[in-house]
Amino acid sequence: MSARFEELDWQPTPMGDLTLRRRTDASLGVEIFEVKLGDEFLMSSLFTVAEEELARLGLAAVRGDHLQVLVGGLGLGYTAIAALRDPRVSVMTVIDTMPAVIDWHERGLLPVSESLTGDPRTRLVLDDFFAVMRRAPEPSDIRYDAILLDVDHSPRHQLDPSHADLYTPSGLRALTRHLADEGVFALWSDDPPDDEFVAIAGSAFARVEAHVVDFDNPLTGGTSSNTVYVATRL
Ligand SMILES: C[S@@+](CC[C@H](N)C(=O)[O-])C[C@H]1O[C@@H](n2cnc3c(N)ncnc32)[C@H](O)[C@@H]1O
Repeated sequence: MSARFEELDWQPTPMGDLTLRRRTDASLGVEIFEVKLGDEFLMSSLFTVAEEELARLGLAAVRGDHLQVLVGGLGLGYTAIAALRDPRVSVMTVIDTMPAVIDWHERGLLPVSESLTGDPRTRLVLDDFFAVMRRAPEPSDIRYDAILLDVDHSPRHQLDPSHADLYTPSGLRALTRHLADEGVFALWSDDPPDDEFVAIAGSAFARVEAHVVDFDNPLTGGTSSNTVYVATRL
C-alpha cells in the first residue's frame, strides 16, 4: 500500500499535539483527511456514513418546520453538513471544545468547510457541550428541536471522564431542559446497541430507538456498524 501525507495543520493542546493531515491512499484510490492527537487517531473522513445518519435519523424523528438544531462535536463536519441538507433546519448551532477544530473549518481546510461556514444557518461555538447541558437554560435561551451528539466513543466509553454524567438518568433529564416539548435527542455510538443505556435513556424520554447503521469498510473489505440512538420526548 502506498500513501502520501500532507500535514495541513499542527497545534499543541493540553492533551498532546493535534495534527490534521491529508493522505492519498493509492490502493483505495481516495483522499483521506485524518486527525491525530499525539499518536492516537481521533477522526478520519474514510467512514462518514454513520455520522451523516446521525443527522438524518435524528431529524427524521422531528416534526414541524423552522427547526433549531444543536450539534455536539464538529469534528470533520459530516454530521453538521448532513443536518443542513434538511431544508426545515433554520438555525444550526455546532459546539466544539477544541479551538483548532473550529479554526480548520473557518480556514476552509476540510472538504465540507466552505459549504458549512458559507451557510447562513450555521453558528460555530467554542464551548464544552457537557457543561452547557448541565446548566439550566435561561428563559431567553433556545429550546432545540433536535440535539445531535457525536463526541464520545459510546455511552460507556467517553473521551473524558467529565462527560460521563450526561449518560445517566439525571444527566439526560438535564439535557431535556434544552429541548422543545417535542424535541429529539440523537446520539452516535461506536458500540453495538446497549440495552442498559436504552433503559437509562427511557427514564428521561418517552421513546428510545437504537438504529444499527452498517457501512462498507474498505480497510477490512467487509461491513462495519455503528449505532445511532434516537430518543423522543413524546
Ligand atoms: C468524533 S468527532 C465528531 C465527528 C463529527 N460527527 C463528524 O461528522 O465529523 C468529536 C468532536 O467532539 C469534540 N469534542 C470533544 N470534547 C468535547 C466537548 N466537551 N464539547 C464539545 N465538543 C467536544 C472534538 O473536538 C471533536 O471535534
